[in-house]
Amino acid sequence: MKKIISIVLCLAMLMLLCACSGGNSLSAIQKKGKMTVATSPDFPPFESLEGGKIVGIEVDIMDLVAEKLGVETEFVQMDFESVLPGVQAGKFDVGMSGITVTEDRQKNADFTTPYFMASQAIVVLVDSPITCKADLEGKKISVQTGTTAEEYCMANGYEVLAYQANNDASSALTTGKVDAWVVDNEVAVALVAELGGQAKVLDEAMTQEPYAFAFAKGSGELVEAFNSALSELIADGSVEAIFENYGVPYVGP
Ligand code: ARG
Repeated sequence: MKKIISIVLCLAMLMLLCACSGGNSLSAIQKKGKMTVATSPDFPPFESLEGGKIVGIEVDIMDLVAEKLGVETEFVQMDFESVLPGVQAGKFDVGMSGITVTEDRQKNADFTTPYFMASQAIVVLVDSPITCKADLEGKKISVQTGTTAEEYCMANGYEVLAYQANNDASSALTTGKVDAWVVDNEVAVALVAELGGQAKVLDEAMTQEPYAFAFAKGSGELVEAFNSALSELIADGSVEAIFENYGVPYVGP
């Protein structure tokens, strides 16, 4: 009798533990043979649309990680501001969007160890009088909604115009609605190149920010599996080779 009671108690505790831990599990992903990846593909060279297909550095990294975990990837497209909430709610298995790890975000989501060190850059029109961060005093700045650029610019008292799509934050600059556009450094370089000489990226960086992949809180085992795959891919030079393919210097975390 005692044995039965203790077995039942153990089972109950186990069920409770499973229910409380939340998060998405490695076994669930492996069982369905795929993982859903939430992404905002307006962020070259990390993720962008090419003929309807999502391509970029993070797509290539994710494909290699998926291969190691023995699953397929299914990319689900959305605005950046929906990526983290969707992942946190467990709607998607992983978030991939050049996501910066911040203390605030860590309260609501799990992250892999960072795989890249980025920064925020200032973009201005070629003939702009703004040459450094100090010149931004009292100026209007465009950013993408829900990003660390928005957070940083608001916290530092700039007049901020926020846009859901990164391209609209860029257009705000080229159409003269703002004096500067703040965006992640490598994305600034890629998108300014697309603008064909209209704009330039200033040398002075605003912040230092590590990129990582995001998960619902409590996805410990899945995060661990990602971390070991990532550390192998960093150690054997695969990650660096992917960056090289896109002409981006690899800056390790
Ligand atoms: N690194 C910044 C952040 O985490 C910007 C990311 C924007 N990503 C995107 N795919 N549009 O807030």
